[in-house]
Order: sequence, then structure tokens, then C-alpha cells
Amino acid sequence: MAEVYDLLVVNGVVVTDTETGEFDIAVKHEKIAKVVPRGGLSGVSVKRTIDAQGGYVMPGGIDSHVHLNEPFIMAGGRCADDYEPGTRSAIAGGTTTIISFAPQSKTEPSLLAALAETHALARSNCYSDYSFHALCTNAGPVAISEFPSLRAAGISSLKFFMAFEDLQLHDDEILDVLLQARRNQMTILVHAENGQVISWMTKQLEKEHLFDPKYHVNSHPPMAELEATSRAIALSTFIDVPILIVHVSQPAVAAYIHEAQLKGLPIYAETCPQYLFLTREDLDKPGFEGAKCVCSPPPRSTADHEGIWRGIENGTFTIFSSDHCPFIFEDIEGGKKSSISPEYPNGRFQYVPNGVPGVETRLSLALSADRLQLQKFVEVTATNAAKLYGLYPRKGALIPGESDADITIWYPELDSFKLKNDMLHHNVDYTPYEGQTLNQWPRYTVLRGQIVWDRDNGGVLGVKGYGQFLERGISSLAGPLRPEKDWNPRDF
Ligand SMILES: *[C@@H]1O[C@H](CO)[C@@H](O)[C@H](O)[C@H]1NC(C)=O
Repeated sequence: MAEVYDLLVVNGVVVTDTETGEFDIAVKHEKIAKVVPRGGLSGVSVKRTIDAQGGYVMPGGIDSHVHLNEPFIMAGGRCADDYEPGTRSAIAGGTTTIISFAPQSKTEPSLLAALAETHALARSNCYSDYSFHALCTNAGPVAISEFPSLRAAGISSLKFFMAFEDLQLHDDEILDVLLQARRNQMTILVHAENGQVISWMTKQLEKEHLFDPKYHVNSHPPMAELEATSRAIALSTFIDVPILIVHVSQPAVAAYIHEAQLKGLPIYAETCPQYLFLTREDLDKPGFEGAKCVCSPPPRSTADHEGIWRGIENGTFTIFSSDHCPFIFEDIEGGKKSSISPEYPNGRFQYVPNGVPGVETRLSLALSADRLQLQKFVEVTATNAAKLYGLYPRKGALIPGESDADITIWYPELDSFKLKNDMLHHNVDYTPYEGQTLNQWPRYTVLRGQIVWDRDNGGVLGVKGYGQFLERGISSLAGPLRPEKDWNPRDF
């Protein structure tokens, strides 16, 4: 008897990180079953067919930097999206897998406790597949002893901050984390800004009675990011362990990372839409409006955008993620407006919750900019995240028999339109990209063979709870330079 497939995607232009061509795809049991030259599946038995009509067909997007339902993480702020709207927003924007954070508070010794709490928040609430990075703010002996258990629980990456007093680690704690990460083959993510420089600058600005949102940019000077990046690279090189510098905002930092990469060091870098589509002028709007774009590091200048694009094109940047970190603008208790008081009608920049939403707009912004080669686009928005975080080739690829049937299908052509927050599915009352002209949006999103987004026929078709937790293995990108050798203090 002839084979029956669950879904075909035909007449598209398939683009992966390595190949572009006119291929048709057959899906069975949630997996990619076949990828064959166009027309090669005619006559097969199938339950459902999508005619892509010449649109691009890509592996589903992976957004590996997403903050959802973090109860305490940004002093005073309340994360606007829990797992339900956050992952709904993801699939509507063509992202089939997110990696969010399991945040440990300073007073919580255990990373596993934070992981258990985060599982409870996500379980049965997700529209997309998901995993977590451990987020370590208390690198005491309990946390350090738990790295093998994290690995056993499918968590192969961990983030720490070099800024924010209630979150940051000091250099000796960072060394403890890096050494233990090396021993357990975990990928480390670093928020590289010098927290003390930021606190000191905040005091200088406040002394001069400069409180408006735009001074957030002054309080995060370029030097603070460059210094922390160079320190993170020095510390990780000393331990011989790979790190990823998250949300790089400036070409000078990218250039520094590029130099390290040229020396053969396993240093990876991430950038985000806010460093390509927002500038510091967006924080300098009348009244409190600029608070909508307060995030850390802050958006820089238009000239900087060019350097960041070049860094993506030439491979300095490994991944392009959203750093979705949503706060409701009008919420006076936990949103952006919580920083306003009668004495400070335009708020006080140091108390504006840091972050912008972006999980839904990430892919469309980057594709509409029409700047990257398509294979590079797939590489930085999906494939490399899968490789770095131990999901490849299950995710980030369209390999028959190996990859989940996670597919983002674009329009062959779409009239350009202006982005409006009304179009989005997050639980936030604004988008920092309001009014941005776009000429693409995902037409269909397919997650493990199910059509979860059909823009022209019902929008979100996926159901809450279909998204699965993904246990992750180790990175398949280059690791320590000398993995066979234990780190030993006698060697120095
Ligand atoms: C690649 O990009 C980095 C970061 O923007 C830059 O420093 C470097 O000069 C670029 N290299 C080439 C060969 O273009």
C-alpha cells in the first residue's frame, strides 16, 4: 500500500542554511519525511497540502533569548507575557521554538528549584516548543553542584549577568561558573555590561537632575559594554570554555569579538532587532514616550546599525534573537509607568523596567529589511541557535528522518504595510516598531506537522499545550581549545 503523509508543502522555494531550491516537502509523524525536487510528490496520498505558491519555505524560527513570566527578575518590573501569550506571539511571527529562562533569585541557592518553578509555569501553556536556559544570580556551592543535574534534566546552557546589583555575579563567581560549565559541557551566555560603571553613571546623571528616559542611554555608555565583553572573553579564555555574548549593541564590541574569533577562540555573539531598527533618538521622545524603548544595552546610532549588519553578514554574529522582555507601558504597578511619580512626571530612568517586546516581529523585521542573503538569514535566525544550544538537527533544519516538521512559509509577495501593535499577539500595549514598514510576514507556521498559524484563514490555529519541552544536548559548535586537558591551577 502507498505511504500516506500527514502534510505536503509544495511549490515553495525551500531555503535552509546550506541550500536554496524548488523542493516539495512531505511530513509524517511530526517529522520531515521527504524533501524532493518540485513535482516529485504528485500523486501521493496525503491528508492536507499547503500550496506555497513560490513563497520561501524555511525551518521554523528559533528565538533563543526570550523572557517570559519571570516574577522578580527586573527590579520592580512585572513581565507582561506569561508562557501563553508569549508563545502564541512566537508562532504568529514564524518562531516554532523559544528558549526562555529559569531565573534564580539572589536569595535562592538552587538552580534546580528555579527550573522546577519555571517548568510549572510553562507546562500545558505553550503554543511553541520550548526549553530554558538556567539563569544564575547566586553562584553559591548549591548552584555550582547542580550543573550535572541540569544536564541530566536537558538543560545545557546557563546565563549570568555582569550588570544589575540584584542579579550580577562578581569575577570570582564567574570563574566558578565557567569552570563548572567547562566540566559539564554547558554553553554560557553572558550579559556583558559593567554594572558598577552603570551605577556610577546613574549617580552622576541624577546629581545633575537628569531623570528622563533618554538618560538611560547615557547611563549605559559604550565603554561599559566593551569593558565587560573584554573581561568576559579574558575570563573564559583563562578557563578555556566557550561563551556567547548576548545582545551586542555596537560595532566596536563586535570588532573586539571578531578579533578573538580570528585567534581561534570559541567566542560567540548574539545581536537583536533593537540594535538594527531602533536608535537612541527613540528614547528622546516627548514626555515619557521614550520609556517604550528602554532596554539594556540601549539602542545606539544609525551608523552603528550598519556595523551590526556587517557583523551578521560576515559571521561575527552567530545568532539573531529578540531578547523579548515585555512590560506594559500603561501599567503603573509593574509596567513602564511604575517609574512615574508626582515628583518625577517623566519617570526616573533608573526605575524604568528594562526591556522591549519582540518575539513576534523578529523574523519579519529582518526579512523585510532585505539585507541578508536568505541562507544567512536562516542560519542566524534558526540553525545556529539549534547548533549552539544542542537542538540540531532536530530543530533548525529540514533533514528527512531527522528534523521535526517545523516550517515557516512566507508569501510569494506581500504589499508593504505599516506594523501596528493591534496585529500582534503578545500581552503588551505597544510595540517599539510601531509604524515600521514591512513587506513580509509569515503566511503559515507549521509546528511538528500541525499548521499552528494561517494568517489568511483564522490566524492562530495552534492550541495551548501543543508546545513541548525540549531536552537539549551539548553544543555542536566549536568547544574548548583543549578539551582533553582538565583545567589545572598549576598550569599558570
Ligand atoms: C566583520 O565584522 C566585524 C564586526 O562588525 C568587523 O569588525 C570586521 O572588520 C568585519 N570583517 C570583515 C572582513 O569584513
